[in-house]
Amino acid sequence: MNSFSTGESSPRKVLIPQNRLQERVSELGNEISQAFAEKDLAIVAILKGSFIFAADLLRAITIPCSIDFMGISSYAGQPRSGVVQITKDLDQSIADRNVLLVEDIIDTGLTATYLIHTLRQHHPASIDICALLDKSARRIIDVSIPYRGFEIPDVFVVGYGMDFQQQFRNLPDIAILKSNGSPKTDVIHPDQAGNKSAS
Ligand code: IMP
Ligand code: MG
Repeated sequence: MNSFSTGESSPRKVLIPQNRLQERVSELGNEISQAFAEKDLAIVAILKGSFIFAADLLRAITIPCSIDFMGISSYAGQPRSGVVQITKDLDQSIADRNVLLVEDIIDTGLTATYLIHTLRQHHPASIDICALLDKSARRIIDVSIPYRGFEIPDVFVVGYGMDFQQQFRNLPDIAILKSNGSPKTDVIHPDQAGNKSAS
């Protein structure tokens, strides 16, 4: 049984363990290195949720590339619109470059759609998405995810950079939380989380 404690009284249940994350990130790094060989790769990671994934992915990419960050937060008054507040904009130009947008999780797809629309205004040569997790059961708007880590069921996850009320980003595995923030007891085996990349 995969469980761990991070100092709180209750352990949470692991959906995707650390070793499986590392394996998959390494595979994604290889795929991206092949796909963008000979191209001018500009990675754009979305803060805060993707920071750990992006750091690991960057080290799994073997071709020259740059990394920049965009910080976003939701507008309280506009849930479900996908319109987010940009709290940190890009530092470098992405004009004529091949952008890889690195996200922690695609849920409804609204945020990614809005970000792609925003980034297109900077005239990149191309934009592709790399998302660690895909919660496709909750999709509202179709999003193409050519580089996808894992398909996951409709559960709220934390860890490996992802939070619940700014907590749990430091967990090394991806774990399931109930909506009230307490541990979920019905464990989903990592194999059921899917391990195929989208094609
Ligand atoms: P979307 O616009 O619904 O696709 O939302 C995407 C964003 O919601 C992600 O980038 C996350 O920041 C957040 N999110 C969605 N599901 C989860 C989850 O299970 N855990 C933590 N954050 C989540
Ligand atoms: Mg996010």
